[in-house]
Amino acid sequence: TQKIIIDTDPGQDDAVAILLALGSPELDILGIVAVAGNVPLALTEKNARKICELAGRTDVPVYAGASRPLVRPLITAEHVHGESGLNGPALPEPALPLQAQHGVEFLVEALMREEAGTVTLCTLGAMTNVALALNREPRIAGRIKQIVMMGGGFFEGGNITPTAEFNIYIDAHAAEVVFSAGVPIVMMPLDVTHKALTTPPRIQAFRELNTPVGTATAEMLEFFERYDVDKYGSLGGPLHDPTVIAWLLKPELFSGRECNVEIETGSALTYGMTVVDWWGVTDRKKNATVMRDIDADGFFALLVERLGRL
Ligand code: BDR
Ligand code: CA
Repeated sequence: TQKIIIDTDPGQDDAVAILLALGSPELDILGIVAVAGNVPLALTEKNARKICELAGRTDVPVYAGASRPLVRPLITAEHVHGESGLNGPALPEPALPLQAQHGVEFLVEALMREEAGTVTLCTLGAMTNVALALNREPRIAGRIKQIVMMGGGFFEGGNITPTAEFNIYIDAHAAEVVFSAGVPIVMMPLDVTHKALTTPPRIQAFRELNTPVGTATAEMLEFFERYDVDKYGSLGGPLHDPTVIAWLLKPELFSGRECNVEIETGSALTYGMTVVDWWGVTDRKKNATVMRDIDADGFFALLVERLGRL
């Protein structure tokens, strides 16, 4: 099994990513750390607990991390995810308690405790917690196996500004810390996730699982896709965050290449842009494996199969 920590701001697509991990016996989830993002921290940590309970997995510890980005004020996305961050299904208030330890403390402690090179960080939101952990204990950089992250975009552009993707935009300073830390990074940008669309038949496949998880997933995705279908005029919304977990399970669903990626933090116009040297036109050091393509049917088949186990 692979040891992972999920850092997340649920978010319906974060929720589906967590469910995919919970339904996959190859993954040993050491903890889930919430970060402020789609909605404020008090909601993201609660939503993470709701999802663990939905899956009947109250053995996974949930921590609360940073309540705001490193430098800028928090920007949230209720217009996409709804007031709760998880609009769609009616999920009960969670009984699963939040861990008392701060999420950043947990990250540092877990990475210093576990054997070096064995723990993968999966980041599904702004990278504030990881940046804070790296600043607090720089030795963790040499101990993290890899960071698999959803964020950024290059040929596809941005989704919150013409050049910036939401997770990078809300804390570009944190992303800059992470991308320059020397940790191997696998990046799932909009170029991938905009090809993973929640079309009506794909949502129907979750509903047909006929389980609480399947029904809640269909309801989450129906809510979530509304905004994006209007925005992009596509047949469904992009299912961003589960691509991170899917790569750990079936990397052959994805293709990309190793490139240099730098984060723009200076420009007013392009703040939060991921500057990807896809064509290798600089001699800057390659610091990330950037994905560009996905087998979307294979991805949704994996999701249905794994969520079906919960
Ligand atoms: C990212 O932003 C969030 O709204 C989603 O959960 C995803 O992580 C997509 O830009
Ligand atoms: Ca997210």
